[in-house]
Amino acid sequence: MKSVRNKWQLPLKYSVLSLLALVLAGCGTENLSSLQPKGEGANMLFDLMVLSIVIMIAVFLVVIAIYTYVIVRFRKKKGDKDIIPEQVEGNRNLEIIWTVIPILLLLVLAVPTVAYTFQLADTSERDAEGSENHVVNVTAHTFWWNFEYEGEEVTTSQDLYIPTGEKVFVNLSSADVIHSFWVPAIQGKMDTNPGDENINTIFLEADEEGVYWGKCAEFCGPSHALMDFRVIAVSPEEFDAWLDDMRQGPGETDSEVAAAGEEIFAQSCASCHAVEAGAPGGVGPNLTSFGDRTKIAGFLDHDKETLKQWIRDPQEFKPGNNMPAFPAEQISDEDLDALAEYLLELKVQDE
Ligand code: CUA
Repeated sequence: MKSVRNKWQLPLKYSVLSLLALVLAGCGTENLSSLQPKGEGANMLFDLMVLSIVIMIAVFLVVIAIYTYVIVRFRKKKGDKDIIPEQVEGNRNLEIIWTVIPILLLLVLAVPTVAYTFQLADTSERDAEGSENHVVNVTAHTFWWNFEYEGEEVTTSQDLYIPTGEKVFVNLSSADVIHSFWVPAIQGKMDTNPGDENINTIFLEADEEGVYWGKCAEFCGPSHALMDFRVIAVSPEEFDAWLDDMRQGPGETDSEVAAAGEEIFAQSCASCHAVEAGAPGGVGPNLTSFGDRTKIAGFLDHDKETLKQWIRDPQEFKPGNNMPAFPAEQISDEDLDALAEYLLELKVQDE
């Protein structure tokens, strides 16, 4: 019995591994994959990946070709005597060849890698006089994102709007622990550090309009994997219109229920959450355009029922986050309904 198991163990292990590789290869979601680049930075990184993979495949093929040739050519045939072919150990020419080739290959890899590294970190365009680039101060919080558009009096959370075809510079910092800002389809990742000392800057430039998914890429606590955000790339005209809409705010509600909800919000939520685009980054996400978003807390379905459950017990969905729970003793079912109604009506854009 034991020997049978041993005999199959290895092939089994390899077939499971290759099956896994096949299945996982299909995991790349569109708009969340560096293998489907949709922006300047991601294009550069993709080029580097292709370059290194092409070199690796070429080396692999050459090695396999030589290996196969040697096996066939020097095989011991029937009737052959026990002779050892000529030994090439210490052959100077061969030694030079297989030292120089890897050096050349490494240079081919290193030159563009170093060049791109500097290009990706280049902020001279932002700092140039009369620069028209948009600059966004990004602050990571456990477990959400705040976006403040410099000089625009607009702050938002979770959904980062950018104009297509323009470099938007993001200054990255954190309100607590180290997080990492990553929008795989648009750009490589960059750490967000606590404090004002170590602010990293990277640019975002989207080739085409679309909604791109962003992730936190540095383990930061129990809900690290749920620290999602979105980059919404729209045409420059739409982007300017969005800034105007944000500054105007969601407008008055005409529903009685929502008006009641607004009062509850003022009492229970407004100390952490702002509903005004000009407000500075608060303790909790800015909710000015909450109704326009497509996710609650970055990853939950955007509907009334889910929203009510989230307010009742945020820990159940996003463990370790800083939002307190609001049990029925604090907010009655009726009030919760009104509050949710109010929040979902916070829209700055026309449907
Ligand atoms: Cu924030 Cu991981």
